[in-house]
Amino acid sequence: MKISIAGTGYVGLVTGVCLASSGHEVTCVEADAKKLSLLKSGKSPIFETGVEELMASCADRLTYTGDYKAAYKGAEVIFICVGTPERGDGYANLKQVYTVAEQIAAAAENDCVVVVKSTVPMGTNDKLDKLFLTKTDKSIRIEVASNPEFLSQGTAVHDFLHAQRIILGVKTRRGEEILRQVYKGFNQPVIVTDQRSAEMIKYASNNFLALKISFINEVANLCEIVGADVETVAYGMGMDSRIGEKFLRSGIGYGGSCFPKDTKALHWLAKYHDYEIKTVKAAIEVNENQKIRLIKKARKYYPSLEGLTAAVLGVTFKPDTDDLRDAPSIQNIAILLEEGVKINVWDPVGCNRLKALYPDELNCCGTIEDAIRGADICLILTEWKKIKEFDLKKYAKLMKKAIVIDGRNCYDLASAGDAGIIYDSIGRRRIMPFPKNEV
Ligand SMILES: NC(=O)c1ccc[n+]([C@@H]2O[C@H](COP(=O)([O-])OP(=O)(O)OC[C@H]3O[C@@H](n4cnc5c(N)ncnc54)[C@H](O)[C@@H]3O)[C@@H](O)[C@H]2O)c1
Repeated sequence: MKISIAGTGYVGLVTGVCLASSGHEVTCVEADAKKLSLLKSGKSPIFETGVEELMASCADRLTYTGDYKAAYKGAEVIFICVGTPERGDGYANLKQVYTVAEQIAAAAENDCVVVVKSTVPMGTNDKLDKLFLTKTDKSIRIEVASNPEFLSQGTAVHDFLHAQRIILGVKTRRGEEILRQVYKGFNQPVIVTDQRSAEMIKYASNNFLALKISFINEVANLCEIVGADVETVAYGMGMDSRIGEKFLRSGIGYGGSCFPKDTKALHWLAKYHDYEIKTVKAAIEVNENQKIRLIKKARKYYPSLEGLTAAVLGVTFKPDTDDLRDAPSIQNIAILLEEGVKINVWDPVGCNRLKALYPDELNCCGTIEDAIRGADICLILTEWKKIKEFDLKKYAKLMKKAIVIDGRNCYDLASAGDAGIIYDSIGRRRIMPFPKNEV
């Protein structure tokens, strides 16, 4: 099929290359000239495992362009994959989605299906339907369908190729059939529903996962108070198939381009309809506090942080991505700078983007060793493999004072205990063997 994709971010590019890998002719439209020139040279503008390899292997079926008119003119299916960032008041900013819709309305010359893959609030597909009815030539029929995306950054290609479900929110049998054709090469369960339910499935899924994270983080905080170990608690909970083990890792909260904005958007939308979604409201509040939990912990060791040198290990919102959007590191770094702390940062891929935010204020280091050398305190904000595999003894050897505050529970408590460092993590307690006479 002839498919066009609007936007080549994490979702658009992955969708484009994966659909091309299943045999479709795909044209990716990108508005950003820098990204476009990278794509044209065979390079991915996003750091995502497997994308460049798929771009190369499907090169004869993939085109990249800034010329949206040519791309939308004869397409059978057009995927909208542009950003829907947070608006100032918490709601989703749909400007990019409407811009693309206007461009399609002006360019389309054939009947086609416009598929909304961007995460959009309930009712947006209906509004786009109306836009196309009023703005396109009456001789052509543009149908809108909702097909939310569930991939995770870091494993996006795998998640797309092996999706656990494909949600199709359609208005007509024709729309369903065309989308089934698009996904013919993928052997995945398909759920067909109406557009609003499809839009809601995406929000409800992301909000539920955010709730799970905030819940286990609160349990972790309580574990610290009552002397329990959150990892054992999560393990014990997760073995119950009604609960499941995923998203029960405690830490410094969720970040990234989805959970923060999607929780706020659902909360806003509920409020707009005169309903308060209290569980989501609580998840947002818990997360805001959790993000700065390490700073609170740091104050236990240094009542004033002024004049200290801190090593910050990991800045991306999670490992295996270069994305800093809403990463807890941003808030932590801002607080440390505000308090007069000198910061050494290490991250394998995130430093370039961080430098764009803080061109002079930070010392970005090439190795973990350089970042911790001479530091008074170390904060771990992302669980990169290199951090998890780092020799704990080096903290004691290289830091001025070996205080390691770990927001991602990277190290085993026993090993940290043996390494001669002060190690503080989230919600954990070393479970001691029973006293001999009780065994
Ligand atoms: N990132 C994720 O993990 C993820 C997962 C599932 C769903 N989503 C949702 O998918 C959507 C896209 O997310 P993303 O992270 O890929 O966003 P992104 O910001 O990384 O990518 C959007 C791209 O669209 C381009 N763009 C903007 N306007 C354009 C236009 N008129 N024509 C062509 N290109 C244009 C931008 O330059 C950018 O490259 C969002 O709604 C998001 O919530 C994201």
